[in-house]
Amino acid sequence: MTLQFGPNYVRAIAPYVAGKPISEVAREFGLDEAHIVKLASNENPLGMPESAQRAIARAASELGRYPDSNAFELKAALAARYDVPPEWITLGNGSNDILELAAHAFVERGQSIVYSQYSFAVYALATQGLGARHLVTPAVQHGHDLDAMLAAIADDTRLVFVANPNNPTGTFIDGATLEAFIAKVPRHVVVVLDEAYTEYLAAGKRYDSIAWVRRYPNLLVSRTFSKAYGLAGLRIGFAIAQPELTDLLNRLRQPFNVNTLAQAAAVAALADTAFLERSAALNAEGYRLLTAAFERLELEYVPSDGNFVLVRVGSDDGAGGRVNLALLRQGVIVRPVGNYGLPQWLRVTIGLPEENAAFLAALERALA
Ligand SMILES: Cc1ncc(COP(=O)(O)O)c(C=O)c1O
Repeated sequence: MTLQFGPNYVRAIAPYVAGKPISEVAREFGLDEAHIVKLASNENPLGMPESAQRAIARAASELGRYPDSNAFELKAALAARYDVPPEWITLGNGSNDILELAAHAFVERGQSIVYSQYSFAVYALATQGLGARHLVTPAVQHGHDLDAMLAAIADDTRLVFVANPNNPTGTFIDGATLEAFIAKVPRHVVVVLDEAYTEYLAAGKRYDSIAWVRRYPNLLVSRTFSKAYGLAGLRIGFAIAQPELTDLLNRLRQPFNVNTLAQAAAVAALADTAFLERSAALNAEGYRLLTAAFERLELEYVPSDGNFVLVRVGSDDGAGGRVNLALLRQGVIVRPVGNYGLPQWLRVTIGLPEENAAFLAALERALA
């Protein structure tokens, strides 16, 4: 008899599929790493800001000691930026950590979590890892159907995940619609509003979700330094919520969940508004270029407010895998999204102008 360990709900988890690393593609396809273009993980193509690199160099001498468990300096900087008390902030090892912590802090095994079809994969993983029930509402035009999500909230629902903009689809819900939704969610149900891409929003689309945190004690806003701030490899994100929520996250988090270098780099990156502006402008320009090419190639795409675009590369369910392989052979890494139930589509991160051009040239060859 084969031994089986762990609960059934853990064995049922399909592991998270990450973007392929450059080194792996180089090995697998016999390519030179220097010529590989990676547009697979929604990273900032500008890399880490120089201000953060300098902060890391300064902090390196402190690495013999544990990090500041309470991240005094970073929390003070975030508190000043968002005009909230430091107690309203919880740091995470990436915002992924925040999402997991929230599920564990607010939901018991057997209770339910509501999220949308085609929303970020970690919502399903966090739910499953807890042995909680998934209440998944069908997407509308690849985005969240907020009315359906409200209607799905059951007696035992304790958490709702909303991503705005959403990954992998890039869809966006305007601020007024979103706040009206939050106002209707019962107060004993926590809304985790995942704003990993919020820094990329065009000026006209921005809304103040931190003001909502003051109004709604059941709202938790999750943000990350992985995307526009360019610190994905350091793993740092944060939550802003009222103390009744953050207090629970703080009890559950590992005492040293955010390392010294990440804290130092985040303080620097937070102050580096020029880098953030450059990142957003580069992204907007890349988005125009990619979507114009998709139109020329008559490829359907989902209008995106993130730093990536979902594009349909064929009308049969083998299309995503096939075109992805043809791109990999040419040294271009994008993200197949078959695991999201989107086998005809690929998600491409918006890169530097030369990376976008390399992707488009490879795509045209792959489709030919
Ligand atoms: C919507 C969304 N939320 C959260 C994350 C987690 O990012 P991180 O853990 O790097 O902060 C991602 C990363 O792709 C994302 O797309």
